[in-house]
Amino acid sequence: MSDHEPPLAILAELSHRCPLRCPYCSNPVALERSDGEMDLDTWTGILDQAAKLGVLQVHFSGGEPTVRRDLEALVQHATDLGLYSNLITSAVLLDRARLERLKAAGLKHVQISFQAVESALADRIGGYPGGHERKLAVARYVRDLRMALTVNAVINRHNVARVDAMIELAVELGAQRIEIAHVQYYGWALKNRAALMPTRAETDIAIGKVEAAAARLRGRLAIDHVVPDYYALRPKACMNGWGRRFLNITPSGRVLPCHAAETIPGLQFQSVKELPLAEIWHQGPAFQQFRGTAWMKAPCRDCERKEIDWGGCRCQALAITGDAAEADPACELSPYHGRLVEMATTEAAAKAPEFVYRQFANAQVPAE
Ligand code: SF4
Ligand code: FES
Repeated sequence: MSDHEPPLAILAELSHRCPLRCPYCSNPVALERSDGEMDLDTWTGILDQAAKLGVLQVHFSGGEPTVRRDLEALVQHATDLGLYSNLITSAVLLDRARLERLKAAGLKHVQISFQAVESALADRIGGYPGGHERKLAVARYVRDLRMALTVNAVINRHNVARVDAMIELAVELGAQRIEIAHVQYYGWALKNRAALMPTRAETDIAIGKVEAAAARLRGRLAIDHVVPDYYALRPKACMNGWGRRFLNITPSGRVLPCHAAETIPGLQFQSVKELPLAEIWHQGPAFQQFRGTAWMKAPCRDCERKEIDWGGCRCQALAITGDAAEADPACELSPYHGRLVEMATTEAAAKAPEFVYRQFANAQVPAE
């Protein structure tokens, strides 16, 4: 059928509903409404197909996946298929009894987002009063129940100075892992870029702190560090390369190569309600468009790193240059790199504007 490998993992966006309103949410600005969400039977059929395709891990995500009362049934189905289940959650709707039910269904791993270390700031960023204390309580239940815990910390100008305290929080909670991810600017985060962008000096200090903590805590806490694109010299291999290891399924069933792919105009996305998942993965036009290296132009086409970073992020290339086939402007070799740095420097130096919170009232109408 094809010479590329099966996906390793799927991100199952069960719903775009979410009680939090983070201004850097990775969901599209055109949020999908609840009346379009797929039902339990459709999702279990997708999991059957995913397992057959070779997928090993399912990340149940959203929005907030725990808004779905059938989450336990979905986790159980994934378990029955031999899939490893991870829950990516804000945690504010969880309690101990529900976590026990999810564990009994086979849930292996819980990732909880923390917006900051201090309640007032965390609740302001998340747009949800009382959320931080709730997250702390749920994180402790996760560890009491001996489930694996990852702390997700999204770093921005409001919490960058306290990155070391975020790492200490993860240690104190007994997490196995912390993901320190500097904001990636697409979707909601692109709308809020000036409100979120730290200065280069703040970023450099934070990177130093993370590196020191990684050395100090080796063997105790794994630190995954997603470095900030706007101050980088080379881009990250976004999604480990387009259409190589990962696919994303939206609440209504659209299958995407990455969570922000719908920002790229002209790509044709297919629905798992209409076509088999394997066909979409192997032959879908959106997956084929930027898979491999044949689509590349200079400077990527002739670059020795083209099968290391795969040209970086297509969505960022589109957002900054207007052309998704350009090199990611996070790359110093891109002719747009100077523009990117200039934007970041100017915005970080100015007073932070108010957040445009992620909520249906601020969302665009989704494309048909
Ligand atoms: Fe990566 Fe393209 Fe930059 Fe080379 S030119 S490092 S392939 S983004
Ligand atoms: Fe779409 Fe990076 S987020 S390719």
